[in-house]
Amino acid sequence: MKSYKIALIPGDGIGTAVIEATWEVLGKAARGAGFSLEGTGFPWSCDFYEKTGAMMPADGIETLRGYDAILLGAVGWPKRVPDSVSLHGLLLPIRKAFVQYANIRPHRLLPGVEGPLRASAFDILCIRENTEGEYSGAGGRVHNGTADEVAVETAIFTRKGVERILRFGFEQARKRRGKLASVTKSNAQKYSMVFWDEITALVAAEYPDVEVANYHIDAMAARMVMAPESLDVVVASNLFGDILTDLGAAIQGGLGYAASANINPERNAPSMFEPVHGSAPDIAHLGIANPIAAIWSGAMMLEHLGEPAAAAAVMSAIEAATARGIGTKPGEHKTNDITSAVLAALG
Ligand code: IPM
Ligand code: MN
Repeated sequence: MKSYKIALIPGDGIGTAVIEATWEVLGKAARGAGFSLEGTGFPWSCDFYEKTGAMMPADGIETLRGYDAILLGAVGWPKRVPDSVSLHGLLLPIRKAFVQYANIRPHRLLPGVEGPLRASAFDILCIRENTEGEYSGAGGRVHNGTADEVAVETAIFTRKGVERILRFGFEQARKRRGKLASVTKSNAQKYSMVFWDEITALVAAEYPDVEVANYHIDAMAARMVMAPESLDVVVASNLFGDILTDLGAAIQGGLGYAASANINPERNAPSMFEPVHGSAPDIAHLGIANPIAAIWSGAMMLEHLGEPAAAAAVMSAIEAATARGIGTKPGEHKTNDITSAVLAALG
């Protein structure tokens, strides 16, 4: 029987509950499809930081390298550990070390979920550059604490980085409805964003079957609210994609439905799957976190592992549950009830 080695990092806050739920659903889907998932849990988190002084052990990255995929809950508990420490000690190094340059985030309404918009028939795939750009981490501060203090943080765009994320986007567009929106701010940022536009045009020439449109980030934000049905694949830089995908989560009914995959398309290191919502410390341990975003991320993991039938079964089970009104309104159902409904729908 085929078996996949999965590294489980529940992390902080509601991460634990949603990963437990997801693992149960994925286990059942795997059994149904005739393969197995072998999970190894890693307690890396803010708890771990308080005990050891690090978010993960020094050889954490090397340990994870041996797995077929990573399933992550959430990282961060700002009252206990500053986000700048916890995120830069766990989530962000994994994305960078494993060159997970494509952060894929689907935005569409599940059946039974009422979004805030009038439009209901949208199906957007946001593809966020995930390793460089505005979140490269290049910068510094001088004259600290004085009136002359200066902070710089440089956005870094490389030909290799921009080209590969756009090419990835074009490949996705080809598999979907053949439309790609490239998002920049080239009317104001005349070096990096003009560079991005130029590379979009270069790569577009290789995909004459894909219809390309260029948008500025501000106009795209408005379009996602006013005409989301006009969008298919949306490709954006790290910061712009970060912001657009919270907007995407909002129009799909909330962060409880926003799934994501941090993909290494070359498959020379594991990819990582995580819900977008974060650790939500305020509701941790209340048993009310919506596990759907995490379960959907788990379905994306199965797809990436080459198990599309099991992935589709999980998605159908989520949709069957929400179509019955389970997990469609904040706080109405407990994590366990939503998980049970998805499990039951899996048959
Ligand atoms: C996300 C999150 C992270 C990001 C933060 C927590 C660093 O907002 O996955 O969207 O910006 O990448
Ligand atoms: Mn974000």
